[in-house]
Amino acid sequence: MCGIVGYIGPKEAVPVLLSGLSRLEYRGYDSAGVAALSGGRIQVAKARGKLSNLVEKLKGGAPKGSAGIGHTRWATHGEPSDINAHPHTGASGRVAVAHNGIIENYLQLKEELGKAGYAFISQTDTEVIPHLIEECLKAEAGLLPAVVRALSKLRGSYGLAILDAQTPNCLVAARRGSPLIVGVSAEGNYIASDIPAVLPYTREVYLLDEGEIALVFEDRVEIHSAEGKRVEKELYTVTWSVDAAERGGYSHFMLKEIFEQPKALRDTLVPRVRRGSIDLSEAALSDEDLKGVSRVVLVACGTASHACLVGKAAIEKLARVPVEWDIASEFRYRDPILSPDDLCIVVSQSGETADTIAAMRLARERGCKVLAVTNVVGSTIAREADRVLYTWAGPEIGVASTKAYLTQLLCLYLLAIQLAFDKGLVSEEDYALYLRELETLPDKAETILSSTEPMRRAAELFHAQKDIFFIGRGLDYAAAMEASLKLKEISYIHSEAMAAGELKHGTIALIEPGSLVVALSTQGLVADKLESNIQEVRARGAQLLCVTYGDTDLREKLADQVLRIPRTVDLFAPLLSIIPLQLFAYHCAVLRGYDPDKPRNLAKSVTVE
Ligand code: F6R
Repeated sequence: MCGIVGYIGPKEAVPVLLSGLSRLEYRGYDSAGVAALSGGRIQVAKARGKLSNLVEKLKGGAPKGSAGIGHTRWATHGEPSDINAHPHTGASGRVAVAHNGIIENYLQLKEELGKAGYAFISQTDTEVIPHLIEECLKAEAGLLPAVVRALSKLRGSYGLAILDAQTPNCLVAARRGSPLIVGVSAEGNYIASDIPAVLPYTREVYLLDEGEIALVFEDRVEIHSAEGKRVEKELYTVTWSVDAAERGGYSHFMLKEIFEQPKALRDTLVPRVRRGSIDLSEAALSDEDLKGVSRVVLVACGTASHACLVGKAAIEKLARVPVEWDIASEFRYRDPILSPDDLCIVVSQSGETADTIAAMRLARERGCKVLAVTNVVGSTIAREADRVLYTWAGPEIGVASTKAYLTQLLCLYLLAIQLAFDKGLVSEEDYALYLRELETLPDKAETILSSTEPMRRAAELFHAQKDIFFIGRGLDYAAAMEASLKLKEISYIHSEAMAAGELKHGTIALIEPGSLVVALSTQGLVADKLESNIQEVRARGAQLLCVTYGDTDLREKLADQVLRIPRTVDLFAPLLSIIPLQLFAYHCAVLRGYDPDKPRNLAKSVTVE
């Protein structure tokens, strides 16, 4: 998704902007640009493709000045091109703007501005903004009132960094629907769409709230409401390190993050387990609250929705509470049946996914209490939900979600166990047993990661496959969905996840000699049934890769390759069975020559519908 950086201070702006943009590369983008202001003139440089293309271009002469804005663009309106890249300037060149989000009424504004004589050169929605601000500057005395007036005419979402050639001592940042922070340091101040962009320079940041506008001077920051009224705001101190946001010796962020999973699990679990019981008081979830829950609605997108599938199974099995599961983009438009007694749980790594935000707002409008499970402190979802349970996974940079998924599962298991206990459906012994088992899982994850050669070997054998089918039953089916997504999104091998019993109702027609089927087999209750499904595909010549416990006695020749995980209670198996398959997906991608951190067409945080 697009990234924004801005700087004003004693240093030359462009090198600072480029370093910030490079830290936002992980968000996914297809062009980049910078603008800087000096001698009352804004200069802009932009290039399609990677940031390195822009750096190359700048060797021929970079914009000069100690105030500037930069952007990495992920195309929505108009193809990726130099012209469509941001920053965009107004007709007179007075104002430059970098924008994240989508302006929904841009066609109407474009027509109005066109009639007033403004010529458009790009296909973007963004270009209306600098023109509009220039138009408003004619009617208003000063940049802030002009920005307030211009923003009041925009419909849609934006995070904006604005440069005005006639106000050289200040940058403007504005937020509605797209995250933005302002970093504060003794050597100038910064604007960014994401904290890692400013971490080398400062840990002190303002997290802008919806509608806020910041005037960012070299030596101070003024925050205003959407109406231009001064707002007092506290600085937030970032506690995680720059190092945590960098690769730390691993060849890719994804690999680093897979290996960080034992720590992420520990960090998420330890603060919630005190003296043998689960403590969810940080989310203001009391035993009384949980006792009163009669129905749960789980909503998310992508990987987070797969975590919700596991959450649904765990909550229903343990707490016997009906759970509705949906993907946010469907939920928000299907007029869901919701009641104030429902607990709606939205799960989102970034806390900024547009569809999940909309689903959350809808649930709140209908009177539901919303609990957010998210990884990003200060994100929109964290701030708007009634209650928040953080997944302490640390920053997840790789586009493919790994450690965030595991910690989402863990939070949902904790909720399921506590809900069941509060409803009197789990005995003290079973409660203690579940907790003890959860406490062993970080070590068990470490055991899997201590011997990754089988996953690499499996990838070597199978990375040239055209299609791969993942099958499982019950919780193995939920984990298979995630394993299949992981593989396809980074290796570009077509894959499908099937409930194993459903295979023979159609998809088995695709199985032919040499096809690869990956079977997840951790659920004792349906192990025999799964074995029959495996036999069905074996009989049609399929090769078989199986993920199962270390001590499972697999019938001779049932699988060509086996990836073993330590035994756990079947309910928690998805926390372990996904790890070898994340690594399988990772190695397939690398062996096929792709960068798993930057899968094509994908973005880390999907802030558009
Ligand atoms: C896939 C992946 C995506 C995200 C989805 C939701 O590996 O990461 O499917 O899970 O875009 O994102 P969040 O969790 O940020 O709401």
